[in-house]
Amino acid sequence: MSFNSTLANWYLENKRDLPWRNSKNPYNIWLSEIILQQTQVKQGLPYFEKFISNFPTVYDLASAPEIEILKLWQGLGYYSRARNLHFSAKYITKYLNGVFPKTKKELMLLKGVGDYTASAIASICYEESVAVVDGNVYRVLSRYFGIDTPVNSSKGVKQFKMLATSLLPNSDLGDYNQAIMDFGAKQCKPISPSCIECPLSIDCKANATGSVKILPVKLKKTKITKKYYNFIVFNSQDNETYLEQRKSKGIWHQLYQFPLIETNKSASTKDLLEHHRKTLIFPETFKELNLFNSTEIVHKLSHLELKVKFWILETSTPIKNAVKWSEIKSYPVPVVIDRFINNFQN
Ligand code: ADE
Repeated sequence: MSFNSTLANWYLENKRDLPWRNSKNPYNIWLSEIILQQTQVKQGLPYFEKFISNFPTVYDLASAPEIEILKLWQGLGYYSRARNLHFSAKYITKYLNGVFPKTKKELMLLKGVGDYTASAIASICYEESVAVVDGNVYRVLSRYFGIDTPVNSSKGVKQFKMLATSLLPNSDLGDYNQAIMDFGAKQCKPISPSCIECPLSIDCKANATGSVKILPVKLKKTKITKKYYNFIVFNSQDNETYLEQRKSKGIWHQLYQFPLIETNKSASTKDLLEHHRKTLIFPETFKELNLFNSTEIVHKLSHLELKVKFWILETSTPIKNAVKWSEIKSYPVPVVIDRFINNFQN
């Protein structure tokens, strides 16, 4: 049996039951595909459910305040995805009468929609003959065809895209694209795939040559930068604290945080008081500054390793533009801060 027909049979038996698969509504598919960029299905699923129930249509999403969208997105990371989602929802309602573009080319004009997402929407909703190539697809193709070109090199990207395109069937394109992604996620797993039970193993090059473990090849990532973040958690006698909104581009753009002091090594109380003299970040008078987490929290992002300390600053000075502790949960914050809030309040 051919690669395609084996895959199609496998999909009939093993297709994942995912909520967005019940419809071809481009809004649902777009939402699911944006959530699934850089996120595994298991992790993304509850976010899809939350978004669909809070914003059943593109109009609901477009008219929601950004803070609400960021709050629902909290924990998924790559927050620009949420901001682009909002931007595109507003664009679709304002300029396209709420109607989604119907071709890959036009879909790619939406902010946050690249080749992969546009191909997924166009094939799933409109049966356009375009290949979706995500991490799962790279793995399946590199192993089955025994290709060791690095998948994150420009040569690899072109080569795999051409191969994936050449394999497209004549019909059921949405199902085909989803079948190969599901196959990569469930059968041709990154680690310890069960090749003995694999329906494609007979013709799989990697299986024949014992190279399953080394394929796909990926070029080493860029260097990980270490940063030392000290969050100053004001705690007033009136049960209030202070949050600032991150204005700088980069991680956590527009999320809220406790005032931040960044140091170039793990900071001591003395280092922070020293900083304070320069930045006057603390109120004029404060009673105590105590480290909350005696061991630094290590928070890993794709290109950064953050070493995080939370410092509790007890103060009797009223805080300007204070946030009540009882209302803090309505602010979108990075996960590391959300975890701290849960620990601190319990
Ligand atoms: N990963 C991202 N989108 C997917 C889809 N539609 N089906 C399976 N896996 C996916």
